[in-house]
Amino acid sequence: MSPHLSVLFLLLLLRQTAMAVALQPGYYAETCPGAEAAVREAMKVALIREPRSVASVMRFQFHDCFVNGCDGSLLLDDTPTMVGEKEALSNINSLRSFEVIDEAKDALEKACPGIVSCADVVIMAARDAVALTGGPDWEVKLGRMDSLTACQEDSNDIMPSPRANASFLIDLFAGYGLSVKDLVALSGSHSIGQARCFSIMFRLYNQSGTGRPDPAIDPGFLDELYKLCPQGVDQNVTGNLDSTPRVFDNQYFKDLVAGRGFLNSDQTLFTFPQTRAYVRRFSLDQDEFFRAFLEGMIKMGDLMSDRPGEIRRNCRVVNSRPVDGLSES
Ligand code: HEM
Ligand SMILES: *[C@@H]1O[C@H](CO)[C@@H](O)[C@H](O)[C@H]1NC(C)=O
Ligand SMILES: *[C@@H]1O[C@H](CO)[C@@H](O)[C@H](O)[C@H]1NC(C)=O
Ligand SMILES: *[C@@H]1O[C@H](CO)[C@@H](O)[C@H](O)[C@H]1NC(C)=O
Repeated sequence: MSPHLSVLFLLLLLRQTAMAVALQPGYYAETCPGAEAAVREAMKVALIREPRSVASVMRFQFHDCFVNGCDGSLLLDDTPTMVGEKEALSNINSLRSFEVIDEAKDALEKACPGIVSCADVVIMAARDAVALTGGPDWEVKLGRMDSLTACQEDSNDIMPSPRANASFLIDLFAGYGLSVKDLVALSGSHSIGQARCFSIMFRLYNQSGTGRPDPAIDPGFLDELYKLCPQGVDQNVTGNLDSTPRVFDNQYFKDLVAGRGFLNSDQTLFTFPQTRAYVRRFSLDQDEFFRAFLEGMIKMGDLMSDRPGEIRRNCRVVNSRPVDGLSES
């Protein structure tokens, strides 16, 4: 390798490993002072245009951070040589409102090009979704880098099914340093948004292969769900995840106590003894739920990627890098 190329190579390496810096609140205060306000504004516009979209965007934090850390890998479109996370089991035909992230990022690229990562946009937008729908507001830590790649299988191997039971979810979350309390509080994100009949058909007609519905469903609610999702229904039909799907509140937990959880992974939190006490507490004390929720969101946001990164210009594609040919030289 010529000395000239070695220097370039070193620079490339440095640029790609610059993410070792710790996350911090106000990370863009000097470099892009309007960043957080711009994302909030994009979320306000989205909320007015389509109320559900902010819930859809909030979900991105979970699906991004659990798969190789919060690195914006979720946002990458497929390429001829890469099938990304958008095609994964939990995401396909389900994740939506990616255009809201694009709109926020466009505003940021106009104001301060090349400064704010897409991974950070996801974190800010999730916070804003909660704050704009009546939930708590909090300071987020920023300074993440965007991944250079994404992989469908990585998501398939990790993201939980709506059939999951509480003991499975406890173990899954524990693997990320998230406690039982974090699991229950973070599941409270289902206080906003919707899900498809696809995600509950088994629960209504053949829970655990019994040929019967989930016995934990309240009979009146079961009738409602049968009307929403009759056998043979278009499984894209959606229902509300709780009875106040546009308001971030503790109604989700009140619904679980009443046997009116939408997903199996929701209702199971009240069925299992280890999680039941938290469901009850959050159903009785909204402030406690809010405190636990934002603590969980911050912990989840701390999940870091250990891979090389960059600040993507377009959240859907990695930046083109003319020096890539170096590895072959
Ligand atoms: C605990 C394990 C979890 C499971 C098994 C789970 C599963 C699901 C499923 C199956 C859907 C509906 C998908 C569909 O039918 O298209 C959904 C929606 C949603 N999830 Fe989760 N989820 C979990 C945790 C979380 C967490 C931690 C968050 C965020 C912090 C989150 C946020 C959301 C939101 C906001 C929606 C509604 C999205 C919309 O309306 O487009 N979920 N989840
Ligand atoms: C459900 O929606 C997806 C796109 O989101 C579409 O590909 C699929 O055909 C739809 N299914 C039905 C039964 O309409
Ligand atoms: C919970 O789900 C896991 C994985 O599907 C299963 O192995 C386990 O038996 C279930 N636990 C209970 C108590 O139902
Ligand atoms: C219910 O599921 C079991 C196994 O999961 C399967 O063997 C059975 O055929 C299913 N029954 C119906 C009515 O779909």
